[in-house]
Amino acid sequence: MADQVIIFDTTLRDGEQSPGISLDAGEKLEIAEQLARLGVDVIEAGFPIASQGDFEAVQAIARSVRGPVVCGLSRTARKDIDRCWEAIADAGRARIHTFIATSEIHMRNKLRMTPEQVKVEAGEAVAHARRYTDDVEFSPEDASRSDFDFMCEVLQIAVDHGATTLNIPDTVGFAIPEEWGRRIAAIRERVRGDYVISSHCHNDLGLAVANSLTAVNAGARQVECTVNGIGERAGNAAMEEIVMALRTRPEMFGGVDTAIRTEELARSSRLVSRLTGYAVQYNKAVVGRNAFAHESGIHQDGVLKERTTYEIMDPAVVGAGDSQIVLGKHSGRHAFADTLHKMGYDLHGDALNQAFARFKELADRKVQLTEEDLEALVAEEVGDTVRYRYQLVSVSCHGGTNDTPTATVVLDHDGEKLEVTAHGDGMVEAACTAIRQATGVEGRLTDYSVTSVTGGVDALADVALRFEVDGRAMPGRGLSTDVVEASARAFVNAINRIQRVQDSGEDPREVDRPGSLRGV
Ligand code: KIV
Ligand code: ZN
Repeated sequence: MADQVIIFDTTLRDGEQSPGISLDAGEKLEIAEQLARLGVDVIEAGFPIASQGDFEAVQAIARSVRGPVVCGLSRTARKDIDRCWEAIADAGRARIHTFIATSEIHMRNKLRMTPEQVKVEAGEAVAHARRYTDDVEFSPEDASRSDFDFMCEVLQIAVDHGATTLNIPDTVGFAIPEEWGRRIAAIRERVRGDYVISSHCHNDLGLAVANSLTAVNAGARQVECTVNGIGERAGNAAMEEIVMALRTRPEMFGGVDTAIRTEELARSSRLVSRLTGYAVQYNKAVVGRNAFAHESGIHQDGVLKERTTYEIMDPAVVGAGDSQIVLGKHSGRHAFADTLHKMGYDLHGDALNQAFARFKELADRKVQLTEEDLEALVAEEVGDTVRYRYQLVSVSCHGGTNDTPTATVVLDHDGEKLEVTAHGDGMVEAACTAIRQATGVEGRLTDYSVTSVTGGVDALADVALRFEVDGRAMPGRGLSTDVVEASARAFVNAINRIQRVQDSGEDPREVDRPGSLRGV
């Protein structure tokens, strides 16, 4: 049995199905490039039939990201598979992942198909996909609630028609580790042929990582996971946790390992968090900001004397070392581009000019910028590869204990300047009201949080919020040395995203996603 587990990353497909996440093509490409640096084996880049936006993002990734296999998801319909192939055809290595549900509940209520029809669909879909590529993955959706004998029949048909990976999804997060391990082992025994067996776990009972690891011990040689465990409902199995469990306790897994460059885990986590607007909980294993923090005196004393007293992993191994000061206000364009290049970001042309202008603005106000500051800045600029309609030109405000908080905001709207002054209960609210009035976009601010990128009073403020318009909540993110300005930037960012989706006429909620029980 191979001693390497294939890391199949589905952050851009299953992860992007999390409520309120809507990444544009530039943001998806940025994440895909980071996943390649991280060393994942397969990137599931999206679900091309789902929307034109998804198709274009998958195609852009297939055309430019090299290293990992680029995979697209498709249902079993021929048009899905054709569209999927169209999107991934230019990849260095391309995989089609096709799926159909095999549980009684999904077949009856969602597919409205008989088990016989499902068998035919599965076989024909795999055979059709094999006409395009010899790398075809098949998943029996809702495997954990499927009749075992029937599911194995379908899996055998998939292998006989050419599937090279059999992925077993716990679509609704129903499985318990021991049971999941037994199921994976039993499938391997029952289904004949040459295939890699894979596990895809959801976290509804908080067991996605435990189930994935049990699957590895039962013979799975691919695990499907996401950065920070983002995904539908309670999420998918968290990649960083699986990887570090295998790396930290090899004796428990027969020495199997992954090809992940673990020093890139923390950065990948921060990038995904910034671009999706999903904060990472402070005590999240491996990548949470407290994962290596020691609060009690006894622990601090122990770690100072010998790190391993209370640390089972070295923070440097997951890239959570000290944030270094890298640039200041005297740094030039060349040093800026060079530092980004060393950090793994290659910006050119307009993107570089824009990022450098933003850097100068921030560096003028903050003495020195760290790698983390630069990462946040690049993430903020990435979305702007798509030309947004509104740009924040300036915000000025006043308030205090005895003054009504007031903000004046100037926006650029396709070259036209819009200036509005508004009041609020606080200065942030006043700035958001002014932006609302200037853009005419009405909605409800549902979430708002401020964190500092690094520590200290001179840290950059990183504001994450959600703005809900017509029942759809969009994330917004903004960065500045000033909290009101960071909030205004985040608010404008959310409004631009809303307008982008409205302009494209696409509603991602209309698509039938795996795990949903709506009709196909
Ligand atoms: O959870 C699920 O069933 C899926 C499949 C498409 C693998 O995401
Ligand atoms: Zn899933």
